[in-house]
Amino acid sequence: MGRFYISFKVALVLLALIFCVSACQKDGLDERVVQQKVSPKPSNEVEKAEVKEEKIKIGFSMDTLLEERWLKDRDLFKKEVEALGAEIEIMAASGDDALQISQAEALIREGVDLLVVVPHNAEATAAIVHKAHKAGIKVIAYDRLIKNADVDLYVSFDNEKVGELQAKALTKLVPEGNYVYIGGADTDNNAHLLKKGVFNVLQPLIDSGKITVTYDQWTKDWSPANAEANMAAALEANNNRIDAIIAANDATAGGIIKALEAKGLAGKIPVAGQDAELAGIQRIVQGTQTMTVYKPIKLLTKESAKLVVQLAKGGSVDAEQKINNGKVEVPAVLLAPLAVDQANIEDTIIADGFHSREDIYGMTEK
Ligand code: BGC
Repeated sequence: MGRFYISFKVALVLLALIFCVSACQKDGLDERVVQQKVSPKPSNEVEKAEVKEEKIKIGFSMDTLLEERWLKDRDLFKKEVEALGAEIEIMAASGDDALQISQAEALIREGVDLLVVVPHNAEATAAIVHKAHKAGIKVIAYDRLIKNADVDLYVSFDNEKVGELQAKALTKLVPEGNYVYIGGADTDNNAHLLKKGVFNVLQPLIDSGKITVTYDQWTKDWSPANAEANMAAALEANNNRIDAIIAANDATAGGIIKALEAKGLAGKIPVAGQDAELAGIQRIVQGTQTMTVYKPIKLLTKESAKLVVQLAKGGSVDAEQKINNGKVEVPAVLLAPLAVDQANIEDTIIADGFHSREDIYGMTEK
């Protein structure tokens, strides 16, 4: 009888527990449904509700922190997300596809509310989107598009325009002659968009016989050393007779200019890059690089953080543009890039505080 009494008491406690857990879960669910219905146009009432809700947590899965720009992206994006009252956890995969996928899986397991991905490999990272969606987590492709997956939103710069700006600047200086194109990593969708932009401008000049592209090669993993080797091969193959070089970014332009230095040609052949890296801007000042394309990272991080937090709260985003990723038309927000050469460093890079005058010119201020 005593034993029966104890078991009866235990059963009562268990019943009470089960009741409480399901009631709590239901409350949580209801709250989320209410949220989804009212966003994205929050009234004062909803804003009050949002203050009360649990902190949103964003997972940020990055390819690499190697180039200077990605450190800016990481730091500024964190700042912007936190300024909106959300938390962020950041992981970088050092260009390793398997590691990027396992890091993203860890973020999904931790239960982040939304995943932001800078893919190392546009195709391989589709696996991240499938896994996140299975867990009910939306995925935003940041700066680089993820291919062949139901990506929820893509936020970047207009990369085709970047290529067009590079080619326009160089063809203005060198309307005829032998061109070299050293592209980015074949595995990065941006590298393809950049190349498309470059050839939008070059093709009519190629067709009219004014320009010949004597060398055209991707750069594995965007590595400056690979770009240097490619450039050395291009010089070799053309007996140094090259009139203009378009590099997919400033880091690869750095490698290319090393190969030119080795032949005493640095500063003699115009070179275009992108990113407005400090070293790139310094080379523009010294005259070994002709131009770069500036992409205001601060704007990208601010815009992305706003949209990401909005989506994480269950709201939707009105994106005017769409970009096909091989599977779906991904809603896209594409910001405008800007051509920079010696003439406008002051009004762009310095005015925006992207780099300081001291950092660019060293002790000898302009
Ligand atoms: C980015 C560039 C960057 C390159 C290498 C591209 O996807 O758009 O800004 O230089 O990757 O990291």
